Amino acid sequence: MEDIIEVENLTKKFGHFTAVDNVSFKVKKGEIFGFLGPNGAGKSTTIRMLTTLLRPTSGRARIAGYDLEAQQDQVRRYIGLVAEKIILYDRLTADENLQFFGRLNNLKPAVIKERSDRWLRRLGMEEWRNHQVGTYSTGMKQRINVVRALLTEPDILFLDEPTLGLDPQTSRLIRDFIAEVNETGATVILTTHDMHEAETLSDRVAIIDCGKIITLDTTENLKKMVKNISNPTFEDVFLTLTGNTVRDIASSRITSASRRWHGRPTNRVR
Ligand SMILES: Nc1ncnc2c1ncn2[C@@H]1O[C@H](COP(=O)(O)OP(=O)(O)O)[C@@H](O)[C@H]1O
Ligand SMILES: [Mg+2]
Repeated sequence: MEDIIEVENLTKKFGHFTAVDNVSFKVKKGEIFGFLGPNGAGKSTTIRMLTTLLRPTSGRARIAGYDLEAQQDQVRRYIGLVAEKIILYDRLTADENLQFFGRLNNLKPAVIKERSDRWLRRLGMEEWRNHQVGTYSTGMKQRINVVRALLTEPDILFLDEPTLGLDPQTSRLIRDFIAEVNETGATVILTTHDMHEAETLSDRVAIIDCGKIITLDTTENLKKMVKNISNPTFEDVFLTLTGNTVRDIASSRITSASRRWHGRPTNRVR
């Protein structure tokens, strides 16, 4: 099968800290590719680079045949992103948000409407479409956020922890919807902490830790690698490969970095 994403030695450094360290992998056209790892492993940084939001320090990638650095505009035409944070205006209704973001992507109002109608209905959000997004629950916002990412009908959909903090019903709805979008031909790259989600959705899974890919295979094959547990679950696989240590490093790094940063301007005041 054709590779729609080819990543070669991709690296991102923040100062002296290497967040993504020489990562290489390929995603096949039409597959659901799970990208897993403990907190701070480098998943979001990788996704931000592959969606042109962050420049790699070194390495290269081809997305749908286009060079990530040299052909950013072409790359952007092929991708949709559900990022870590929900990207919607609270003061606008769902419809107004979708029209706004659709037009930013040069879509005609009628096309935006037709696609919104279809997906809002599918996600049970039709009756809420004229309410301000600020009045929604997180699960309702995330459903609109997913529709926003799909408006251009992207060939490649990136989802960074799309079900984080959602109730089981909404998580299931979004998972089923991702599978349907994939069945219509879209390639999906998904990060998640939910091992069940990773296992049920993904054709193949890459596990990243401390910025490096430590394994990449089908969930079935990965389970066969765990020898000391009979009938291992996919969670057993993940914990065997990444260890049991709880990772609080990422948030403590960010806190101390932002403290240093916030200290600076004050020091400059005379
Ligand atoms: N803009 C930034 N500046 C400095 N460090 C960052 C920045 N973004 C991410 N990091 C660090 O890079 C590492 C990887 O972060 P991230 O890719 O968000 O991890 P993940 O999504 O796997 O939890 C973390 O240690 C994080 O603190
Ligand atoms: Mg992340």
